[in-house]
Amino acid sequence: MQTQTEHQAGPQWLAVLDEEARGLVAAVDARPDASRLLDGTLDPEGYIHYLVQTYHYARWSTPILAEAGHRLNRLGRHPELAALLIQKGEEERGHDRWLLSDLKNLGCSEQQVEAAARSPAVEAYTGWNFFTSRSGVPTAVLGTAYVLEYLSQTRAGVWAERLKAVGAIPNIHKAVTFLRSHGALDGDHVAEMQRLLAPLTDPEDQEAILFSARVARSVYPRIFREDGASSHPRAR
Ligand SMILES: [Fe+2]
Ligand SMILES: [Fe+2]
Repeated sequence: MQTQTEHQAGPQWLAVLDEEARGLVAAVDARPDASRLLDGTLDPEGYIHYLVQTYHYARWSTPILAEAGHRLNRLGRHPELAALLIQKGEEERGHDRWLLSDLKNLGCSEQQVEAAARSPAVEAYTGWNFFTSRSGVPTAVLGTAYVLEYLSQTRAGVWAERLKAVGAIPNIHKAVTFLRSHGALDGDHVAEMQRLLAPLTDPEDQEAILFSARVARSVYPRIFREDGASSHPRAR
């Protein structure tokens, strides 16, 4: 537990973090392909592009989160947040396999997915988060994790339901495991993070977490196709 004299800091700084999370949702909704996800009309190419790019960052989630947690422990700081990071690394384990499975059911082999070009957004996302995990302020990773879990709680389940309801993508009912699973899980994950982040009063950590959330808000929406252009391995 932190000092009681600064107990007002918790709700105030979490409100700023929530503002970043809502900003990310708005920035994602503003992307043409994400708005098509929201009304269920996204075409197969756009959905495959989104899943392939998601794979190329989600495959690194476990090492990014776990290494940040272990480094925080080595630095002797915030043991409860170190435990949270390590726990979240375990929660993310295997989610890349859901993406490969969804993509396989859309006609994309693992080899095609592995060979696909990473978008600049994915390169920035993985580069930034590996940097903060291994060399920056390690608690920063929680800022990215928080806003993405908030997005997931707000959008993933809805996207899965609308895609299935519209049925514009052949075999879609076998290709929404990643979205459906995250929509179901991440509401609890957001609540848990709020509880553990509320007592944090260290200005350096708060700033690092908020800055990382802003980077995610800037970078993540660009994993979607730009005006329909795509660089994914097309299903045959
Ligand atoms: Fe995940
Ligand atoms: Fe989660």
